[in-house]
Amino acid sequence: CRVRHYKFHVVQKNTTRLCSSKPIVTVNGKFPGPTLYAKEDDTVLVKVRNHINHNVTIHWHGVKQLRTGWSDGPAYITQCPILPGQSYLYNFTVTGQRGTLLWHAHINWLRSTLHGAIVILPKRDVPYPFPKPDKELVVILGEWWKSDTEVVINEALKSGLAPNVSDAHTINGLPGIVSLANCSTQDVYKLPLESGKTYLLRIINAALNEELFFKIASHEFTVVEVDASYVKPFKTETILIAPGQTTNALLTADQKSGKYLIVASTFMDAPVVAVDNLTATATLYYTDTLASSPTVLTTPPPRNATQVANNFTLSLKSLNSKMYPANVPLTIDHSLFFTVGLGINPCPSCKAGNGSRVVAAVNNVTFVMPTTALLQAHYFNMKGVFTADFPPNPPQVYNYTGTPPPASSQTTNGTKLYRLAFNSTVQIVLQDTGIIAPESHPVHLHGFNFFVVGTDVGNYDPKKDPKKFNLVDPVERNTMGVPTGGWTAIRFRSDNPGVWFLHCHFEVHTTWGLKMAFLVDNGKGHKESLVPPPKDLPKC
Ligand code: C2O
Repeated sequence: CRVRHYKFHVVQKNTTRLCSSKPIVTVNGKFPGPTLYAKEDDTVLVKVRNHINHNVTIHWHGVKQLRTGWSDGPAYITQCPILPGQSYLYNFTVTGQRGTLLWHAHINWLRSTLHGAIVILPKRDVPYPFPKPDKELVVILGEWWKSDTEVVINEALKSGLAPNVSDAHTINGLPGIVSLANCSTQDVYKLPLESGKTYLLRIINAALNEELFFKIASHEFTVVEVDASYVKPFKTETILIAPGQTTNALLTADQKSGKYLIVASTFMDAPVVAVDNLTATATLYYTDTLASSPTVLTTPPPRNATQVANNFTLSLKSLNSKMYPANVPLTIDHSLFFTVGLGINPCPSCKAGNGSRVVAAVNNVTFVMPTTALLQAHYFNMKGVFTADFPPNPPQVYNYTGTPPPASSQTTNGTKLYRLAFNSTVQIVLQDTGIIAPESHPVHLHGFNFFVVGTDVGNYDPKKDPKKFNLVDPVERNTMGVPTGGWTAIRFRSDNPGVWFLHCHFEVHTTWGLKMAFLVDNGKGHKESLVPPPKDLPKC
């Protein structure tokens, strides 16, 4: 293993899409940003220098950051922001993971343009557990916003109403041919394939607020990995991918030479939510195709295609081989039940919202961001920054998803953490609620991978549902969807000391408060303890 050095300059860059230009925040002037490569067990050093007029942090989404929480990146959780003109060196080792992840800004809504791929290759001489592809390609799905996303969310917070949606989806930064903009014919990503060859697509959803379907005309994918964990290979025409998730899929150029349409479009089966309805398009072409040949078309599944989404999700199983066993915790030290959903809070200044505003909560607690980083507060024993009294267990026999929705829609505010002893086993059942309206929530946990042992629609039944859990080969990931009006159960081992954020990866829900954090104590030995903070750690 070796040390890899990267320099990330956070700079503004004038960029044109959908016929209009605006300055966007980028790393090294690139949108999407540069790909970070490492081999398993490599140490990665990224010097991030902030040249813009806004605070910045970068999160290495899905990297476990074993004992190196100082490099995780979420603002006010593990670090204070990097101020304009300042820099910070992120320093971490990639252990026990290989595949695709993503890096992104983790402050306000800056990640709309500040993101890129992380590619972790297996150790030297360790082959992939699937046929070796001839080529590898990164495919980043995202959004294009005509307005500044910081302005979009600030206006929404002032009014108390839901923010706007994006103006187009993008494939590797390009929207493709969208109906409202004939000008975007040049903004099409083109993917060249050579007949007969096999490609590994490293697909990433970097969008702020939407789960996406991804599909290519006349071609099938073989999914081999998600969130940098190998899965049992399976074939599918459509990939479902939530913000923060990654999927590696093999694609064989086994069709007639020609051009084929690639599409990315929203999946949202909650009826009342406004979404960006535009399908992003790209073109796959065989390199020996004539420029004039027509494109074979395809249409994405409808936006509310729950069945297509479920088929994909239920096909995901850990590889669980000798070399890559699924070590699912079989006994549980902490059995937690978290409701995730929306709510209402008073807001006297919210004119458009009639004196109230939409919020979101976990177990009815709307998380309040501290003004000092929680990890610093914990490490240096600073009082008054957080309380370690997150409520772990609301009643589990309750009609959370029914109409009318349960009792009160008003949440309480707090910076509450849940404390875990080092190396305990944890189960969390995340239950969506119908308060205001049911909606899906791609929930992300920092610092760990977890196993998705069960999921279903309706209310979780603590008597019957655990009997159906998959404790043999459940998929292992860092971000999973809690279905609209349903629940998902996950398990993990708290073997990483520090403060670890858990939140919905729809940025709008995170902003509204659908977030909390775990505090994991040190173990007994030096190797079970958080490393000391680096000298250049930003101060608040
Ligand atoms: Cu990808 Cu806390 O985020």
